[in-house]
Amino acid sequence: MSVHILFVCLGNICRSPSAEGIFRDLVSKAEYRDHIEVDSAGTGAWHIGNPPDKRAQKVALERGVDIRGLKARQVHANDFERFDLIVAMDASNRDDLLAACPDTFARKISMLLDHAPDQIGQDVPDPYYGGEDGFHLMFDLIEQGAKGLLDHVARKHLSSSNKPKE
Ligand code: 4NP
Repeated sequence: MSVHILFVCLGNICRSPSAEGIFRDLVSKAEYRDHIEVDSAGTGAWHIGNPPDKRAQKVALERGVDIRGLKARQVHANDFERFDLIVAMDASNRDDLLAACPDTFARKISMLLDHAPDQIGQDVPDPYYGGEDGFHLMFDLIEQGAKGLLDHVARKHLSSSNKPKE
């Protein structure tokens, strides 16, 4: 058994593929790496099938994370059942997810920075219409959220009293 985590933004070409790459990188070094699976998606359909934005690819690569092979997809209705944690980049993404989500699964939805103790309630700002600086800020914020999220998953989903069976 694994914990399945889905990162969600608007286009699935800037923030959520960066979060997928950053989190996968953290998980690859963690004790529970064989028990966590990661994906990302967008609430919008504009970029389906496209690789991450070139600026996101560049900033990630400069910081040791390779997201060049990812391809954008849109959130599907069955994602709410399939994933254990659905992690939005901003309040607008979260509200769109809540509007589409059956009530029984609404507890799975959070915002990434709710997992970063100093950033609770904050958005990861959309960098799409700005310059490269915005992509560095995005990367820094996602790193903070991803670390907190991994701690949360280890404590709440994968602690010894709650460890998945092989
Ligand atoms: P993302 O950024 O949600 O972080 O992938 C965006 C990418 C594309 C658009 C908006 C945000 N767009 O309007 O095409």
